[in-house]
Amino acid sequence: MKKNMYILGIETSCDETAVAIVKNGTEIVTNIVASQIDSHKRFGGVVPEIASRHHVEQITIVLDEAIKDAKVSWDEIDAIAVTEGPGLVGALLIGINAAKALAFAKQKPLVGVHHIAGHIYANRLQQEFTFPLLALIVSGGHTELVLMKEHGHFEVIGQTRDDAAGEAYDKVARMLDLPYPGGPQIDRLAAVGEPTIAYPRAWLEEDSYDFSFSGLKSAVINSIHNAKQRGITLKKEDVATSFQASVIDVLTEKTYRAAQQYDVKQVIIAGGVAANKGLRAALTDKFSQSNIPLLIPPLSLCTDNAAMIAAAGTIAYEQGRRSGLDLNATPSLLLK
Ligand code: KG4
Ligand code: ZN
Repeated sequence: MKKNMYILGIETSCDETAVAIVKNGTEIVTNIVASQIDSHKRFGGVVPEIASRHHVEQITIVLDEAIKDAKVSWDEIDAIAVTEGPGLVGALLIGINAAKALAFAKQKPLVGVHHIAGHIYANRLQQEFTFPLLALIVSGGHTELVLMKEHGHFEVIGQTRDDAAGEAYDKVARMLDLPYPGGPQIDRLAAVGEPTIAYPRAWLEEDSYDFSFSGLKSAVINSIHNAKQRGITLKKEDVATSFQASVIDVLTEKTYRAAQQYDVKQVIIAGGVAANKGLRAALTDKFSQSNIPLLIPPLSLCTDNAAMIAAAGTIAYEQGRRSGLDLNATPSLLLK
């Protein structure tokens, strides 16, 4: 009988300190996430210096909790996987140094993981992949369409030319005086508003799978300013509904078109914005018109966590990828 494989994952690229253990790349044994959202809320966004300090305070506590909860002995753990980028350099370094210390002390192989590969592999904790597959990654830092023909290989076929989708959500939310993170707040308001404002949709060149959200963001800001100058206050929920409709139209249409063109067997979505109710509903509706299965991860696996890093790390480990104890943080690491 084949021995079970246990990978311990560590994620500290932004504002979540997370440690998880995943069995055979598909099964969560434990998944502990300590969120710092409350500490960053009053600043309206993530403050890198504060994020690093929280990671330092939390990492050993979260690690202890994961080990206790998993009831897996160190002997059984095959490797340590850690996010090496992209992300905030000071935040990444805390996870990387914890991972290196563990790899050295426990004599385990170390595997550096790309954060977006992690977001994609969060889906494998739900269902096995069928290739070729298309992944739509929408987070605070990324908006990408990624084609995968096999495990561990990523081809970016489209990406944002300016703001990420989540970034646009957070900025618009800030304009509407909504608390950080703005995405879930806009999502909530969008469900009760009306699409009364015609915001632009950036389709770009006809055959392009790239995205652009800065024009939309400016259009929202201008509409709020213009209304104010005319002594009118736009209803927040209508701004939210109209903005969200514009984002979702482009994301859904381009994903659908790419899925058809590349004749994929599966479409998956990943990243914080994949938690968006409107986006989930629009994609579900669109793909119900095709015979391409759409995989939507549970909300807990959309936002940052370490189970996704352990899941992506399992494949990297199986494919023989190793990092040395000189592993460094790479804030703008490319996905390939
Ligand atoms: O993947 P994630 O947790 O962190 C990054 O790697 O960036 O994504 C965070 C982003 C934030 O911009 C947040 O506002 C957005 O995901 N987000 C949402 C929703 N939940 C989180 N955006 C839209 N609708 C949501 N329900
Ligand atoms: Zn993320």
